[in-house]
Amino acid sequence: MPRPSPPAFKWIAAATVVAVAALAAIVPFAVAIVGGVGSTMAQATDATPEDASPIYGVTIPNGYRQWPLIAPAQEADPLNELRAVLGNSVAINAYRDGTLPFPDGTILAKLAWKHVPSPEFEPASIPGAATTVQIMVKDSKKYAATGGWGFGRFINGKPVDEAQHKTCFACHEANVKGHDLVFTRYAP
Ligand code: HEC
Repeated sequence: MPRPSPPAFKWIAAATVVAVAALAAIVPFAVAIVGGVGSTMAQATDATPEDASPIYGVTIPNGYRQWPLIAPAQEADPLNELRAVLGNSVAINAYRDGTLPFPDGTILAKLAWKHVPSPEFEPASIPGAATTVQIMVKDSKKYAATGGWGFGRFINGKPVDEAQHKTCFACHEANVKGHDLVFTRYAP
C-alpha cells in the first residue's frame, strides 16, 4: 500500500507544474523580444524583393514604429505635412554622443502625415492620413557612391519608383553635406 506523500512533496510537484506552464507561456515572448531587439540593428528579414526600394534595395525595418523620437517637423504648403523622424539604437547613441559621420548600422525613419483639425478641439492640428515612410540606412561600403547612405521611400508599405529615388541623395548632399547628409537634429 503506497504511503501518502508528504505535503511538502505535493507542494513541490504543484510548483513544478506551475513553473513549467509559466515557462511555456513566456518562451515565445522572450524569443519575440530578442528578435525585436535584433531587428532594430538590421533590415527587415521578412521583406520580399518587391518590398525593397529601387537602386538601393532598402526595406522598411521591422519594429521601426517603436523606435525613439529624434524630432518632429512640419512641412509648409504644398505638402502641408506633419513629420516625425525616429532612429534605431545605433542612431540614438550617435545623436547622444555627437558621433559624425553616423556609424554603419544607423537607420533613420521619417513618418509623414497630412494634418487635420482635431474633431474634439479645432485649434489642435493632428495627424490625418499617412503619406510616406522614408528610410535612410548607413552602410559605408554598400552605399559608398551615395555618401554611405541607402534610401527608401514607401507609400502604403510599397516602394515608389526609381525616378523618385534618384532625387534623394542629390537634395540631401546639396543641403546637409556637413552633417553627414542628415537634416534632422535631436529636438531639445
Ligand atoms: C528636395 C529635397 C529633398 C529630397 C529630394 C529628399 N529629401 Fe529627405 N529630407 C529633406 C528635408 C528638408 C528633410 C528634413 C525633415 C523634413 O523637413 O521633413 C529630410 C529628411 C529625411 C529623412 C530623415 C533624416 C534626415 O535627413 O533628416 C529621411 C529618412 C529622408 N529624408 C529620406 C529621403 C528619401 C528616401 C528621399 C528620396 C526618395 C528623400 N529623402 C528625398 C529633403 C529632401
